[in-house]
Amino acid sequence: MATTSVSTPTETTDTALQELARRHLWMHFTRMGALEAGGEVPIIVRGEGCYLWDDKGNRHLDGLSALFCVNSGHGRTEIGDAMAAQVRELDFVTIWSYAHPRAIELATRIASLTPGDLNKVFFTNSGSEAVESALKLARNYHRVTGKGQKHKHIARKIAYHGTTLGALSATGIPELRSQFEPLAPGGVHVPNTDSYRWPEDRDPLWAADQIEERIIFEGPDTVSAVILEPLQNAGGCIPPQEGYFQRVREICDRHDVLLISDEVICSWGRLGHYFGCQRYGYQPDIITTAKALTSAYSPMGAMIASNRVYEPFSEGTASFAHGSTFAGHPVSAAAAMANLDVFEREDLCGHVLAKEPEFRAALESLYDIPIVGDVRGAGFFQAIELVKDKDTKESFNDEESEKLLRGYLSGELYKRGLICRVDDRGDPVIQLAPPLIADTEQFEEILAVLRPVLEEASKRLRN
Ligand SMILES: Cc1ncc(COP(=O)(O)O)c(C=O)c1O
Repeated sequence: MATTSVSTPTETTDTALQELARRHLWMHFTRMGALEAGGEVPIIVRGEGCYLWDDKGNRHLDGLSALFCVNSGHGRTEIGDAMAAQVRELDFVTIWSYAHPRAIELATRIASLTPGDLNKVFFTNSGSEAVESALKLARNYHRVTGKGQKHKHIARKIAYHGTTLGALSATGIPELRSQFEPLAPGGVHVPNTDSYRWPEDRDPLWAADQIEERIIFEGPDTVSAVILEPLQNAGGCIPPQEGYFQRVREICDRHDVLLISDEVICSWGRLGHYFGCQRYGYQPDIITTAKALTSAYSPMGAMIASNRVYEPFSEGTASFAHGSTFAGHPVSAAAAMANLDVFEREDLCGHVLAKEPEFRAALESLYDIPIVGDVRGAGFFQAIELVKDKDTKESFNDEESEKLLRGYLSGELYKRGLICRVDDRGDPVIQLAPPLIADTEQFEEILAVLRPVLEEASKRLRN
């Protein structure tokens, strides 16, 4: 039963924290009922490198970089020091009408890392806000260039682009959308690039061509943007086909539609490059990013626009009528600068590219386990799709999935010291995205936990 009394945290022993969490902490995307019924929430108290420690002293390998965020690893005191120094120099000033050195320096540094003419950095506080900003900019760009009818955006099924009502209209996960309808209008969806169950004779660029079909169906004069992740997260690290993004670029150009690369996860080394589009060799009109820009030492996101998209807002009395108070916060900008120093000094992108084959081979060594159906991904962003029958590629039904994923795998992996993501927003997958400093030792540790747990899960399924 939920309680209505308000308690004061006078002590923070393990049990007190559990109790206070139960009473007051409304966790995101979390079934609170389990907690209300007396269940325990994992409380993480410390982090260092690739590891996190819980309040009971147990060490866990952070195989998810705290939700794809802490790319340079936990416990980097130099990032904290840079943040503290920034507070001493200038705690806060907004970038509405004013500027401050760290925001200028960071925008310049980001622009120097992006491909092509993606030179205009519009800071936000989160990924959802970056996506929201990009969708608004795309509409606004067309309006101010005389094509005000262009207001729809095309996204892919099962893709996650955030939770604010605009970003949610791009998110392609029915269970996340249906409860909040009507959504902001304009979001339409096409198939993603998950080819695991495609017929063998399907044209490899079928999914790219679906985008053009949809643009034509909607009417090219009504479509403002296509929003795609370089490697789609939800559904389990779904890579593009060879040539997919080149075809999409051609389609967008043909119909005067902006290409938004949603890199909230796929930037900052996750795929072995600063930006995911660099991995697949395409040039977007807008990039959205967040999470590992600061390695999450402080919240920050950004929308990065090309010179062409920015231009109509740079003349006369024009302005992009959008923004938020905290965006470009000096302390977050200082964290991002220090984080990028680490990236450069330790060549984290180079490390990911060098170690990707070893990480991938470790996961592929699990193929002998009956429920391991597909291993896919890129860089330090890999997924294992679990199947009921490897030959037919049959997936689990809802009940089996619930029993296997929530009833066994999630808890057991954590109990054995591995934090990863067990997800069934699409077909059931286990996702792994360790900090970019992970190496052979961590890959071996991941395997040492995954193998017995997946073998046991396979057995349970047969019984
Ligand atoms: C591709 C993508 N876009 C947008 C978002 C939303 O970001 P945030 O949770 O920071 O609002 C996410 C979050 O995971 C994401 O993966």
